[in-house]
Amino acid sequence: MADISSRKVDHIELCAQRDVEYREGALFEDVQLVHDSLPELALDEVDPSTSLVGRRLRAPVLVTGMTGGVPEAATINRAIAVVVEDLGLGMGLGSQRPMWVDPNVAYSYQLRAQAPTALILGNIGVVQARDASLESLRELVDAIGADALCVHLNPAQEMAQPGGDRDFRGCLATIGRLVSDLGVPIVVKETGCGLSPAVVERLSQVGVEAFDVSGAGGTTWVGVEELRGDAHSRPVAAAFREWGIPTAAILLGLRGANHTLIASGGIRSGLDVAKAVALGARLAGLALPVLRAFKSGGREGVHAKLSEIVMALKTAMLLTGSRDLESLSRARLHCGERLQSWARSLSR
Ligand SMILES: Cc1cc2nc3c(=O)[nH]c(=O)nc-3n(C[C@H](O)[C@H](O)[C@H](O)COP(=O)(O)O)c2cc1C
Repeated sequence: MADISSRKVDHIELCAQRDVEYREGALFEDVQLVHDSLPELALDEVDPSTSLVGRRLRAPVLVTGMTGGVPEAATINRAIAVVVEDLGLGMGLGSQRPMWVDPNVAYSYQLRAQAPTALILGNIGVVQARDASLESLRELVDAIGADALCVHLNPAQEMAQPGGDRDFRGCLATIGRLVSDLGVPIVVKETGCGLSPAVVERLSQVGVEAFDVSGAGGTTWVGVEELRGDAHSRPVAAAFREWGIPTAAILLGLRGANHTLIASGGIRSGLDVAKAVALGARLAGLALPVLRAFKSGGREGVHAKLSEIVMALKTAMLLTGSRDLESLSRARLHCGERLQSWARSLSR
């Protein structure tokens, strides 16, 4: 447990303070929404509400899973929980693996007192899920009152991490088993390298309906592990720091397919959220900016950051004449050549 705890604390500190973002963005800079000078809408009429796994959200914004298992994680999670409850948004939790090692840390993931009605997503790595019983996975979800379980895929991070997992066999079958037998909605997510359309298709064939594509362009977890690594692991991590598929390219590559998509990885503004929805996402998620807002401004900082994001999203909706998200998803957009070329290589 001491190992896992110190890793959690390292992750929070490195992400808060060091350069852990991709040098290239998520390619949302290659997407332009077409301006409408005659929107014939009042801001008050613009309605960005949506839903996921039966929970209503007042805007399609999710703080994706970051932490848990150590006292500071509890403070961060509780602050986020209060804010998402107030703003009608949703949040994910960091990997719940520490709860198996030490059940006493469950409190750091239990947020229903702070967020009785908000969307809350549990989290576990696919390799841990592969080696666990259905019963113990169900307990993870029940213990925190989560609405769904995110199963994360992070082979690049594991390969960059000294002592990380090295055997990724049986993961697809594990996910198929969870979808059919767990009795809890499953969201499959990456952690910043991106689910390719081909991977989404394979997951869809085993019954997965909801995906957090978590593409490249925001936090690079290989980059985080490079900072934590030793002389042996660092050169490999350095070589793969920029590895991954840009988030906007994944969305464009998946356009028209009938999946429930959360767009995350490099979402940095409400305009990015609007672009993600226009490219086909149901929700957009962000992690690092919320952690940094907490570190610099506490709960009020998180509130200000998420409020700003919702306001910019509503502004983009007004300026594209989109009364609701259905209408925004049909908004006209211009995609630059770099983005189109990426998307073409994903669908070939
Ligand atoms: C401090 C921190 C811890 C994270 N821990 C987890 C985790 O335990 N499980 C997970 O699925 N993703 C985890 N993530 C990944 C995020 O959910 C997200 O997929 C990724 O950071 C990309 O989004 P961003 O560019 O907005 O940060 C973590 C991210 C951060 C910043």
